[in-house]
Formats: sequence, structure tokens, C-alpha cells
Amino acid sequence: MQKFVEVVSDKQKLIERSLAIVVEKIQAAIQQRSRCTIALAGGNTPRPLYEALSQQSFPWEKIQVFWGDERYVSSDSPDSNQKMARQAWLERVNIPETNIHPMPTGADAPVVDADKYETGLRNFFQVGAGEFPTFDIVLLGMGDDGHTASLFPHTEALKVSDRLIAVGNKNGQPRLTFTVPLINNARCVIFLVAGENKRPALAQIFAPEADEMAYPARLIQPQGELWWLLDRAAGAELNNH
Ligand code: 6PG
Repeated sequence: MQKFVEVVSDKQKLIERSLAIVVEKIQAAIQQRSRCTIALAGGNTPRPLYEALSQQSFPWEKIQVFWGDERYVSSDSPDSNQKMARQAWLERVNIPETNIHPMPTGADAPVVDADKYETGLRNFFQVGAGEFPTFDIVLLGMGDDGHTASLFPHTEALKVSDRLIAVGNKNGQPRLTFTVPLINNARCVIFLVAGENKRPALAQIFAPEADEMAYPARLIQPQGELWWLLDRAAGAELNNH
């Protein structure tokens, strides 16, 4: 694993820097493998990045978009990560609908939809049982409790090692999430973290020792590149990069 930690002055610079890196990774993937597979983060932080990506000119038919986690709500809910990314980015570019792979939430049974997404990933990447697909890019945020994707502290999803997709749990609310081993099999994982409220969790994530069950983002140790892109409000006190 190659780890990169960058602290930039403010949120705007964070988005500019993350855009430059994501564009570079997308272009490299397309050049090397004729396609790019990217898994999106939800929440608020990445929205301006998605808006900026919508202004780029890519061979959109070569970009395959997935989600690293999803709230268990309908796709037209204001809480839907799918809805946010479509509005900020995907509706604004000429990407084939068949290249967009949202997490299903229509079965009224999270386990059923998790299995469905897992089957879809295995078919898309042509990987069998016990194997993990390799995403070119996985974008992640981090909550102020140290969660990432929908891998929340002290939840069962953190322990899932033989699946691609697990059912997450945020205070009793079900989520669908990439598992730790799926994220860690990626070529490039990029965290975007902004805001002073993330400082305490970041201190634990970057500490030499801390409880990984309490701070799940510590579990993200990909085989490829790990990027932490932080604004100063979040990352100012980090010295042991
Ligand atoms: C989600 C995200 C989640 C998010 C963090 C940070 O579904 O909410 O995937 O993991 O990245 O909670 O959220 P903010 O970017 O809004 O701080």
C-alpha cells in the first residue's frame, strides 16, 4: 500500500485537489484497461466534487459508476446517495444509463438487496465465490465518529470478510455498504474529509494504536493507493502522516 496524506487550506482547495487526482486516476484506468470502475461516496462532502466532474470531458461510455454505500431509502428520497450523485453529476453528462449501477433498495429487505448488488458485482467483474473485484477508484468520506461508507462503529458489518456487500446499521437504520475487504481490494481509495468536527476521529484514525471497531476507517488499508485529502479544519493537528 502507498499512503498519501494532503492537508489543504480550505474546502474549495480540497475539491480542486480531489478533482485533479480523480481525473488523473480515471484517465489512467481508461488508458491502461479501456475502462474505469469508480465507487462513489455519499454524504455532503463529495457533492461539489461530483459537480466539478460533470464539467469534465471524458469518454463517458468507458466509465462505470457504482456506489460504496447507500441509505436504505427510495431512489427519490432526499437522503439517497444515488439521487445526490445523479443530480450533481450523472444527469449532467452523456453517460449511458447501463453504466450506472445504483445499490437497490426496493426489496423492503436490506439483505435481499445486498445479495442482489453482490450478484450484480460478481457478474459485472466476472468474479466467483471467495474472490473480490478490484475497483479502480473507491471514494470515501468519514463521519465524525470515524465511520466510512456505512461501516459504523461496533457493528456486524465491520467483521464481514467473505462478502462484497453487507447490511450496515446506523442507529438502527439499515444501510447497504461495501465490505472492508472489497474496499481494500481497490487500486485507489480516496478519502475526502473536511471540517473541524472530524478532527477527533482523525486523530484516532492516524494514531499508532486505536480500536478499529471504534474507528472503522482504520480498517481501510487498500492493496493499492490510499489517499487522505483533508482540509485544514479537519487535518491541521495531524503530524504523523
Ligand atoms: C453516507 C456516506 C458516509 C459519509 C460520511 C461523511 O452515506 O452518508 O457514505 O460514509 O461519507 O458520513 O459524511 P459528510 O461528507 O456529509 O460529512
